[in-house]
Amino acid sequence: MRGMDKKLKLLTYGCQMNVADSERMAGHLKQIGYSLTEDLAAADLILINTCCVRGTAEDKVLGQIGRFKTLKREKPSLILGVAGCMAQKEGANLIKRAPHVDFVLGTGQSCEVARVVQSIERERKHIVDTSNVSGSIPTEVFPLRGGQVSTFVPIMYGCNNFCTYCIVPYVRGRERSRQPEEIFAEVKQAVAEGFKEITLLGQNVNSYSGGMTFAELLTAVDKIAGVERLRFMTSHPKDLSDELIASIAGGKNICEHIHLPVQYGSDKILKRMNRVYTVEKYLRLVEKIRAAIPAVSLTTDLIVGFPGETEEDFAETLDFLRAVQFDAAFTFIYSKRSGTPAATFDNQIDEQTKHRRLDALMNVQNAISLEKNRALLDSTVEILVEGASKTDDKIFTGRTRSNKLVLFAHENERAGDLINVKITQAQTWLLKGNTSGENSGFVAP
Ligand code: SAH
Ligand code: SF4
Ligand code: F3S
Repeated sequence: MRGMDKKLKLLTYGCQMNVADSERMAGHLKQIGYSLTEDLAAADLILINTCCVRGTAEDKVLGQIGRFKTLKREKPSLILGVAGCMAQKEGANLIKRAPHVDFVLGTGQSCEVARVVQSIERERKHIVDTSNVSGSIPTEVFPLRGGQVSTFVPIMYGCNNFCTYCIVPYVRGRERSRQPEEIFAEVKQAVAEGFKEITLLGQNVNSYSGGMTFAELLTAVDKIAGVERLRFMTSHPKDLSDELIASIAGGKNICEHIHLPVQYGSDKILKRMNRVYTVEKYLRLVEKIRAAIPAVSLTTDLIVGFPGETEEDFAETLDFLRAVQFDAAFTFIYSKRSGTPAATFDNQIDEQTKHRRLDALMNVQNAISLEKNRALLDSTVEILVEGASKTDDKIFTGRTRSNKLVLFAHENERAGDLINVKITQAQTWLLKGNTSGENSGFVAP
């Protein structure tokens, strides 16, 4: 066949959903002769899968596109494509700004990537396709999965929540759920490829509506042979059901970890964010979860500097963090997204105040995370081995069921093994451990 040795360099920004989409696009492109390369100079096609959740995410993408201008000049046959959320948001503007971009493909059209690339191979003409943001769900999927132990399976696309700060509903369209049979088939396919851990993905998995509840879906996937660990994200606190809590508590391989973004710790700001729950309701939910699943770890997302945030609101948020005791929190500075309601709100917060509040928030949470991790010292935990660490091939990494990262000295463990590790050191964002109790001479760096 003609051109079977074409090379694709994929650059993925943003969240897990983008990782999953990139794997799907790579699968489609494989069908037309593209294999993955890490080497930019060797690439015939560079595809950037973009994020626009914050201004910083967009700046990174624009910088990257700019850098490819010289590459394109040196190699005119190179095809440069931009997909994902920023492609959906900006459309033809991207080509106006950077005419060396060949195509812009919106989020609802990602399964059309092979057709678009073939068209450009035939005839060099810009293509912009962002027409159908709530595009239908592709039934034919051939994901070219990265990694070897853990992988993502999307169960739904889009978001209907319209939190006032958030661009996602505009660039990902309305909620659509995949059919359970398709999800089961894809999970089985991933297990057959050797993956041990499956993470079910959606912007808000609690509103899954594929003919069964999310709790039922999770329980059904838990029964699939070979799924040694099962995770899910993200949960919206407004509709995390008792049924779901019971499914996790009664599950076989459902990991005891819930990522439950709270976004803020004061009712006034939560209301302005359109999060539709109160601090009180969130705290009650946490209590209920912990009563049913004692080993649960809870993580969250928080935004500081939302318009109208006062010192009192912020102090309430710090108190809230101290009250909940999250295992970890991802903290963001509010970024104004044009087109969202909050972009037009009064009392936008200045940069200096935002940074000061972010630092204060992180200080409070880091101390809590460290304390939580210290509580694990000398205990033995089961980890799923991921492989060698990025910096040292004698140090391997794995994760606990609670999703904590553990470093340990490699002996003969292989990626994908479930092993017991005794925790010997605790830091804010990671743990270190030994694979055998006696091996106490080793301390991972
Ligand atoms: N659907 C998920 C994830 C959405 S994006 C959820 O609802 O939790 C991931 C995180 O980015 C959000 O949880 C939020 O904390 C953050 N985020 C979204 N919009 C933002 C903005 N305009 N500025 C700063 N952070 C933002
Ligand atoms: Fe954005 Fe809110 Fe939807 Fe999450 S639930 S993607 S924060 S609008
Ligand atoms: Fe994800 Fe960023 Fe899009 S967070 S859904 S890739 S805007």
